[in-house]
Amino acid sequence: MHLTKEEERILNGEAGETLRKALEILTALGDIYGADRLIPIKSAQIAGVSYKTIGDAGLEWISDLEGKVKVPSILNPAGMDLERWDRLDISPDFAEKQKEIVKAYKKLGVSCECTCTPYTLEGFSVSYGDHLAWSESSAVSYANSVLGARTNREGGPSALSAALLGKTANYGFHLDENRVPTVSITVECSLNRSDYGALGYVAGKLVGSRVPLLHLQNTPKTDELKALGAAMAASGAVALYHVEGVTPDACRQDFEPPEEKIIIEKSQLDEVYERHCGAGREPELITVGCPHCSAAELKEAAGLLKGKTVSKEIWVFTSRELANRFPEYMETIEKSGAKVVCDTCMVVSPATNRYSCVMVNSGKAFAYVPGMCGAETVFGSMEACIEEALGGKERKEKKEMEEEKWENKRPEKEKKEGGSH
Ligand code: F3S
Repeated sequence: MHLTKEEERILNGEAGETLRKALEILTALGDIYGADRLIPIKSAQIAGVSYKTIGDAGLEWISDLEGKVKVPSILNPAGMDLERWDRLDISPDFAEKQKEIVKAYKKLGVSCECTCTPYTLEGFSVSYGDHLAWSESSAVSYANSVLGARTNREGGPSALSAALLGKTANYGFHLDENRVPTVSITVECSLNRSDYGALGYVAGKLVGSRVPLLHLQNTPKTDELKALGAAMAASGAVALYHVEGVTPDACRQDFEPPEEKIIIEKSQLDEVYERHCGAGREPELITVGCPHCSAAELKEAAGLLKGKTVSKEIWVFTSRELANRFPEYMETIEKSGAKVVCDTCMVVSPATNRYSCVMVNSGKAFAYVPGMCGAETVFGSMEACIEEALGGKERKEKKEMEEEKWENKRPEKEKKEGGSH
């Protein structure tokens, strides 16, 4: 890989140990993937924030670094709500370590808004063709596919290295030739909003890390594309997809039709909705907001919860910036007993680990929660999730009433003898 004089100087340690290490990481990756040079980036999004995933070794690595990032840089979700962490029973020890991690990133100049949807934040703009170094898989997918920017799926250390240098190695999705579709997917049914997460879950498993070109009967909105990409990146490893007539690359370029063709039918999506908690159990926890809820999704959740009271634990994940920008939605959601949780999510927080069955409206959470949190998952739309949170109590009361009715009808003699059917 060609290095400029300045980059060679950095690699020789003349600009300090932190930048030397950062450049060493980027050149190692560049050499493995055949990059010709380093290219400037517009922004970085850095994963490896939750103490649950990086532990003490990660904390130590970040704390040893010095200097400041050279481009706008933002963090992925942490392991807890940084302000109201005690609401989800996070232990004080965990909270202490998590705060240290965030402080270490802050010292490097990284913005400590912890979100996987940085593209929804004011002042963190991304334009078509921008080169980025982002790491969270759904954010990478959204940046590449929906915004037409260019980023590989960086690991935490390589994204942080890129942030410190303002550059990344020129390979993978930064290059035109790796952005053409290699498999086509035709979806043979029309889709409602929640179907995009289910479709992504099914499609990701079928295409792995290839670049699919999807032919859909509907025109998806941005939140639906967000859900689709997040799920394909989780059940598979899709970092870039195109939707015919919708996504920017597909609209600007005349792609050769890929040779390999896949058809997805409605019955395959139905199977995602059909998974239940084992042994006749019900979900104990309901979570929405993977990826973090947009303003429209918060509005929808608030509308569904308005004037009602939930009877099951339900967590609504979003970025702190959006929570602050829309206090009216937050108030309505929280009035119902649901919890709005910022800076974290159901996957990277240890809070989910104490539940055995979790209901989600996200194909990504559906794929990740079992492995990362040890809980079964069931999938449903936002409406179905909120209905479950509201209805669990009603169902229990109805069952108790029926039992009481039946008990009252039993002959007195049978009751005294303690007999039953
Ligand atoms: Fe974001 Fe966590 Fe889902 S990082 S995409 S909410 S798993």
